[in-house]
Parts: sequence; structure tokens; C-alpha cells
Amino acid sequence: MKNLLTTYRAHLPITSHTPLLTLGEGDTPLIAAPALSRETGAEVFLKLEGCNPTGSFKDRGMVVAVAKAVEEGARAVICASTGNTAASAAAYAARAGLTCAVVIPAGKIALGKLAQAMMHHARVLPIEGNFDTALKLARELAEPGSTPGGASITLVNSINPYRIEGQKTGAFEIVDALGDVSETLCVALPVGNAGNITAYWRGFTEYHRAGKSKLPKMFGFQAAGAAPLVRGAPIENPQTVATAIRIGNPASWRGAVAARDESGGLIEAVTDDEILAAYHFLAEREGVFCEPASAAGVAGIIQLARENRLPRGARIVCILTGSGLKDPDTAMARRELPRPLPATIDALTRALGL
Ligand code: F0G
Repeated sequence: MKNLLTTYRAHLPITSHTPLLTLGEGDTPLIAAPALSRETGAEVFLKLEGCNPTGSFKDRGMVVAVAKAVEEGARAVICASTGNTAASAAAYAARAGLTCAVVIPAGKIALGKLAQAMMHHARVLPIEGNFDTALKLARELAEPGSTPGGASITLVNSINPYRIEGQKTGAFEIVDALGDVSETLCVALPVGNAGNITAYWRGFTEYHRAGKSKLPKMFGFQAAGAAPLVRGAPIENPQTVATAIRIGNPASWRGAVAARDESGGLIEAVTDDEILAAYHFLAEREGVFCEPASAAGVAGIIQLARENRLPRGARIVCILTGSGLKDPDTAMARRELPRPLPATIDALTRALGL
């Protein structure tokens, strides 16, 4: 049975008192992407993180954070979220018997993610403010003594170090699957609060130090309307169709910059149109339905290929961070459901036009 805590035990902060919590996270598929390889001239792979139990990459870090919270005697966990962290925290808290509170920007959470948080019975706290404000509030609520009842609440955003520890296992899986990672490997991923790029870089450097791998280049991509790392300063009012990465002041800012600079990589911006084009390309040409934010990394490498900026002979792994089923509204916004037809072969043949 797959269990991230036991598979990577030697690399994780697991003690004899840590409950071996699992919903079957990790061990996600790494598949070839032939259409994208033709489009970019590189050898491209997709890491399907939407195949995690709650449909996003967050489960890798959340299983460790919630297991450690249980070990340390917590009764409740809290997070700020653009949706996926909330869904993941809610599921693992339900499994572990903890109360879960999620602070979210009202009106800016994809429907599937909200449904998950509600189904797992999280205390959903929508605020009139964006993710950055939600994170500030969640951090304050997690300060000891900040609730009138004096309850201790563990913060499970990626500033919780256990989140990054669990998240880095994505990097281990890439090396374990590809076998030989050479310096021509590039890892492309969307960047929001910057926990993921920080964690992947930590995973690769740990494997490198253990003599198991060379180091790849980290290619991070932000949405153009929410690109503080590209601009070099926080953004007051971030905007993008990719609500998961609608973040103006990433908590792991320094981790992202270190990953970029130490790996000789880059962090650049892609427009919403480019994100949506990549989102549709993946669905129509690769058969992979990811959420819009996940397509930002793919939009980025398409852009680099057009500008002839991909390293010669590049091998690229795109981290598809979340499932497309999370956000049915964005999927249907550009699609029209055909009107019902008479239930006859004739009507169906005519409609097919074949
Ligand atoms: N892709 C998806 C689907 C996400 O949900 C997120 C972040 C990211 C990429 C960016 O990852 O923050 O580590 O740089 N979602 C967070 C959340 C913020 O609350 O679910 P990051």
C-alpha cells in the first residue's frame, strides 16, 4: 500500500510517535507528453499531481503537517487558502479527527475546492480580502493565546516547515522515475505562495547531496497579473484567471529566489491568455485535464521555446499541480453545452456531420 510517510521515512521528520496517517498520497504518474514535445522541441514529461487523493499536490505536505500536529497534541488546524490547501487540510483533518478552519478570499475559490472543504466539514471563513490578507489573519489566529477559549491551533500553510518537508518528495519521485537526471533537466511549475518551488529545490538538493542525482534547473512561472517575484516587489491587488496562484506577496519569497538562482533557472510571467491556451492544449492534445494554475508552467515552456530560450537537448518535467475537475466554471466558460437532440439515430448522425 502506498504511504508517503513510510516510503520516504528516512528523509522526513518522522519519529516513533508520528501517526502514519495516509489517504494514499504521492506516487503520482510521470507521463510523456508527445504533443508538447513536438511543440517545444524538448523532451517533455508531465507529473500528474492532480492524481493525489484530494486532487492536488498539497497532499504531500499536508499529510506530514497534520501527522505532526496530531503528534504534538493539536486539536485544530487552520490555513489561509486559494482553495487547494483548504481542501487538503480539510480532508486530512477529517481523517485525523481534528477541527479544521480555512480562511479564504470570498468569491475567488474554484467550485470543486469549496465543495471539498464543505464536504469534509471544515469551518469555512470567507473574507472580504485576498489570499495575502487571509494568510495574515490565519497566522495571527494560530498565535498562542489568540483565541478567547485559549485553544491551540496549528497553522498548516507552507510556512509550517513540515509542509515543505512532505512536499519535497515530488522531487524524489522524479529522480526515482527518470533514473538518471542530468544537468539538462528543467522542472517547470506554477508559483503562487512559492512553497512548492522551495520544496522541490530542497528535494533535489537533498538527493544531490546523497549522491543520487545531478541538479536540475528550476523554471517558475507566475500569472502576469500576480507576478511579485518577477517584478521584485509585492503586488497589492493581484488578478488572474488562475485563482490558485492569485497571490501578491508569497510567504516563501526567499526560497523561490534561492531555487531560481542556485539552480541557474528563472521565474517569469505568463499572461492569462497564454495560461488558458496551455490549459486547452493539454486537454485537447495530451488528454490531460489540469486546473488553469497548473497550466502556467506549460505556458511558460511554450513561451521559452518560441523565443528559442530552452537549453539545447532539454528534458523538461512540468508539474501539473491540480486536477481540472477542481474548476468546472473555467472549463465551461469557453464551452457551450449542445442543446438536447431528438433521441433518434438520424438526429445524432446529422449532428455529428461525419
Ligand atoms: N498550483 C495550484 C493548483 C495551487 O493550488 C497552488 C497554490 C500553486 C500552483 C502554487 O503553489 O503556492 O506553493 O507556489 N495554492 C495555494 C492554496 C496557495 O491555498 O491552495 P505555491
